[in-house]
Formats: sequence, structure tokens, C-alpha cells
Amino acid sequence: MERVGVVGCGLMGSGIAEIVARAGANVMIVEQDAEAMARGRERIEKSLSRAVAAGKVPEDEANRALANMLFSVDYADLWDRQLVIEAVAENEEIKLAVFRKIDAEVKDPDALLATNTSSIPIIKLAMVTKRPEHVIGMHFFNPVPVLKLVELISSLLTSPETSARVRAYATDTLKKRVITSPDRAGFVVNALLIPYLLSAVRMLESGFASAEDIDTGMVVGCAHPMGPLALTDLIGLDTTLAVAESLYEEFKEPHLAPPPLLSRMNQAGLLGRKTGQGFYSYKS
Ligand code: CAA
Repeated sequence: MERVGVVGCGLMGSGIAEIVARAGANVMIVEQDAEAMARGRERIEKSLSRAVAAGKVPEDEANRALANMLFSVDYADLWDRQLVIEAVAENEEIKLAVFRKIDAEVKDPDALLATNTSSIPIIKLAMVTKRPEHVIGMHFFNPVPVLKLVELISSLLTSPETSARVRAYATDTLKKRVITSPDRAGFVVNALLIPYLLSAVRMLESGFASAEDIDTGMVVGCAHPMGPLALTDLIGLDTTLAVAESLYEEFKEPHLAPPPLLSRMNQAGLLGRKTGQGFYSYKS
């Protein structure tokens, strides 16, 4: 994979673009407008300079990675890509529209189309393309440059060759650990993680415990790197809500239903770190 495309340069897309460029590919990053593109570029530059300052990435590798990245607002610039990884907002309508556009522009018949969706069935995205056998789920974890896991999700129509090629790329080139999941809402990790996060929101909402005590309990008592409410802020309350809705729609179990507080905070635009306020404040 020498020419890779990444569509969407938000929290996840910027991390994916960073590691793909560091691994040596030429990356075409497509965003919806110039403002989103500038924010994405800034996020990548900040992440790389922090990694260089911490001694995690040699300076020449970071410079090479930046030189390997191209930014565009035109899907036609994906025409020569061998792999395109979609990482736009976790919204089915948006992702379906984006997949139609990617499929229309990518010319190589062997090119692979991957989605970083957390919860939308891969088959739904595959079916709006002319190449469902080349569509696969490639689910990264935030922060992408730091967390080693990738979930690979084949749909009922993904070919074994597609799965083998993406697995080899994720393990050998990106140096990630791969687990496989069936094409079910939440896949493996979010099917476990999201009910836990929702339980923490319910605990807070019911007055059972304070946000600080809930998080301290899990950090100090269970050695989690961060508590569930801080983690929800990191993931984004919009993404957490979207995954919870997908899980609830698929399994109809009460513990998967989003608690009202999560919905109200979304309606208020309190989405966590990305907006500067969630369960905690990130305004400096
Ligand atoms: N490249 C390489 N290394 C980097 C880097 C980069 N761009 N940026 C940071 N690092 C390194 C740092 O140098 C640091 O290294 P050391 O531990 O050796 O010092 C390490 O990565 C951690 O980085 P931070 O400085 O940001 O450190 P932190 O200690 O504050 O940790 C955290 C922050 C990584 C977010 C940690 O709290 C954590 O792992 N939290 C849990 C996150 C989690 O669960 N994510 C999954 C969310 S679910 C999801 O994403 C999927 C979904 O669909 C919802």
C-alpha cells in the first residue's frame, strides 16, 4: 500500500493519517472544507511534535510523515489510491454518502475500502458500492498513534483476500495488534465498553456518586488509565451516543439504551474534549 486515502481528519482520521504516513505511505487526506482541513492538519502537527518532544518518534520520521501527507477537499483526488480508510462522523447517512463518493472516484479495481465505523454494519456501507467484496471494517482506537488495537470486521460479502491484505497491512506495516469481530453492532470492544460507560453516566445522573468519585474508583481501584466519564469525554459524547443507539437498535436490551443525561448533553453541544466541555471542563 503505497498510496492510501483517509477521508475525515477529525479525532480518529488525523490519528490514522499520522500512523499511515509514518509507516511510509503517501496519504491523501480528504476533508469537507478548508476549515476542517486546517484543524486536522494542526492536530496531526501537534501530535507529531509531542511525540518528537517525548522521544517517541525521531524528528526525521515526523518530517517525512508530514511530507507524505496531501490534503484536499475534492474526492476526485482519491482516484489512484490502493486503500481508502473512511473516518468521518459516526452517522449512517453521512457515511453512506461518503462511501458512494469514494466508490465513484477510486479507479483501481483492486483498491480496498475500509471504514473506521464503531458500530454501523459494514454490509450497509458495502452495499452502496460496486465492490462489496473489497469493503471491510478497520476499527482503530483513540488515541490512534498510542493504542495498538485494530478490530477487523468482514461483512458477509468481504472476500478472504481483502481480509488477508488488510490484516497484513495493519500488523506488518502499521504494527498494530489485530482482533476479528463479526459484523454486529459495537463489534467486540464497544459491545463491552459502551454499556460500562452508560452505567457510569446513569450512576452520575441518579446521584449515586460524583463524577470524580466514579472516575477515581476505576482509576485507583481497578488501574484503568482513565475513569469512564473522562473516557467518554475523550471518545466524544456524540460518538458514545451514536454507538449506544446502534447497540440498542440491534439488541433492544435496556442497559444499552442511552441515558437521558447523555442525550441532553449532546443536545447542549457538551461533547467532551472536542468542544471543551463534557463531564469535565477542558477550557484553558
Ligand atoms: N506517537 C507515538 N507515541 C505517542 C504519541 C504519538 N503521536 N503521542 C503520545 N505518545 C506517547 C506518549 O509519549 C506517552 O508515552 P509514555 O507512556 O511512554 O510516557 C504515551 O503515548 C501516552 O501519551 P500521553 O502523554 O497523552 O499520556 P497519558 O499518560 O496522559 O495517557 C491516554 C493518555 C493514552 C489517553 C491514556 O489515558 C489512555 O490510554 N486512556 C484510555 C483510552 C482508551 O480507552 N481509548 C479507547 C477509547 S474507545 C475507542 O476509541 C473506540 C470507539 O469506537 C469509541
